[in-house]
Amino acid sequence: MQRTVIIDALKSTAFNEPINVRGWVRSRRGNKQVNFIALNDGSTIKNIQIVVDLNKFSEDTLKPVTTGSCISATGILVPSQGAGQAVEIQLTDLEIYGSADPDQYPLQKKGLSMEYLRTIAHLRPRTNTFGAVFRIRHNMAIAIHTYFHQHGYFYFHTPLITASDCEGAGQMFQVTTKNLYNLKKGEDGKIDYSDDFFGKQTSLTVSGQLEGELAAMALGKIYTFGPTFRAENSNTPRHLAEFWMIEPEVAFIQKDELMDLEEDFIKFCVRWALDNCMDDLEFLNQFVDKGLIERLRSVVDTEFVRLTYTEGVQILQEAVRNGKKFEFPCNWGDDLASEHERYLVEEHFGKPVIMTDYPKEIKAFYMKINDQKPVLNGQEMDETVQGTDVLFPQIGEIIGGSVREESMDKLMGEITRRNIPMKDMWWYLDTRRFGAAPHAGFGLGFERLMLFVTGMQNIRDVIPFPRTPKTAEF
Ligand code: 4AD
Ligand code: MG
Repeated sequence: MQRTVIIDALKSTAFNEPINVRGWVRSRRGNKQVNFIALNDGSTIKNIQIVVDLNKFSEDTLKPVTTGSCISATGILVPSQGAGQAVEIQLTDLEIYGSADPDQYPLQKKGLSMEYLRTIAHLRPRTNTFGAVFRIRHNMAIAIHTYFHQHGYFYFHTPLITASDCEGAGQMFQVTTKNLYNLKKGEDGKIDYSDDFFGKQTSLTVSGQLEGELAAMALGKIYTFGPTFRAENSNTPRHLAEFWMIEPEVAFIQKDELMDLEEDFIKFCVRWALDNCMDDLEFLNQFVDKGLIERLRSVVDTEFVRLTYTEGVQILQEAVRNGKKFEFPCNWGDDLASEHERYLVEEHFGKPVIMTDYPKEIKAFYMKINDQKPVLNGQEMDETVQGTDVLFPQIGEIIGGSVREESMDKLMGEITRRNIPMKDMWWYLDTRRFGAAPHAGFGLGFERLMLFVTGMQNIRDVIPFPRTPKTAEF
């Protein structure tokens, strides 16, 4: 008989007709007369109840039907007698695909810790929490493609193997086929890459932006959505060594329009989750984060604060004067610590903040330099650039974006000042040499968005198989 997925079976009204469902047993309980099997096939967080008459099925037949086992159940669909579900299936035929030994199956108990579940990442999609997270993850990917497609952007594929360091932070994983036990070195003692696979030193990309800019200078509006790699040794609940990034790049827009895009895009994604993932969100709201749905709704309905870095520093310094204690000092020119970001977003404003116009020294080489220097407490500060980061409650930085420096001279100045090897950048510079245009873009960390939408606390729990320092299992 043809299989019905459980999400459809639960909505069906074809009562007293035969139906077949297949899935993994969440539990079996009951007495000498009747057993109840809770079956889940991943199509929804909800289980379907299979009612087993023990006059028709012996204890022996049911023995392999353990928690975690996989079965095919055929029976008659009936309105449910019990509370908690609309329909149930009265079993007529049972096929056991695979049992799961109760003494060994790790997902026997409820309430296992997130840390433990990470050690069994190959099985954790079978839990309610991770089933919900991964269904939502799929829906967010669809939301992202839908948004850009509807707004006339082209999905552009940028390479994962690259010879340039977009962010200039030196956090790249090398790609090589060289024999690491016998490295050929030049006279200067440096490794000679001429005989390596690509004939030069290459790495996994930290961002598709530079190639994305090339595409925006031809197709107008593009976005990338792909894996990104960073060898930053930060063991935090917000950092992965392999994460997914969405990077739109748009010709002919300025800072205000870039911020409009960032805000509109995030709100669209969050609204999509509320419209399409309510069963899973309700589960997460009940068991993972009680404020989740309310927080999602409030972000959709609220206008983000737009604030310059200098204004932000002023608010933080004022808070310190009024007795607020931070672990780190907050001087103009320093990167904001996450406690500073959280103070602004969660305590001071109580809503998302788009922070702009950062000190040049703490941002990447490609950002557009402002003509005017900012003034703080009556004093002129150093040069700033048109960065536009979005800071979110609970998460901190969710988007990093900027207007790009389109002036060849200014860009060259930064590249030289920062000692970025010019010979590797010739193709990028051609965008400024031939038909340069004002343009801007941003990068959204997909897993940071996932953290916000699911209410999960650790970024390792919103990607199926996390890659972090000292962890590459599965
Ligand atoms: O701020 P970042 O470094 O910006 C860029 O890479 C730009 N090239 C983007 C652009 O303008 N096209 O990274 C962008 C976002 C961050 O705001 C954060 O959400 C996420 O990527 N991110 C990480 N997510 C998880 N783990 C990490 N190690 C991350 N590093 C950055
Ligand atoms: Mg950033």
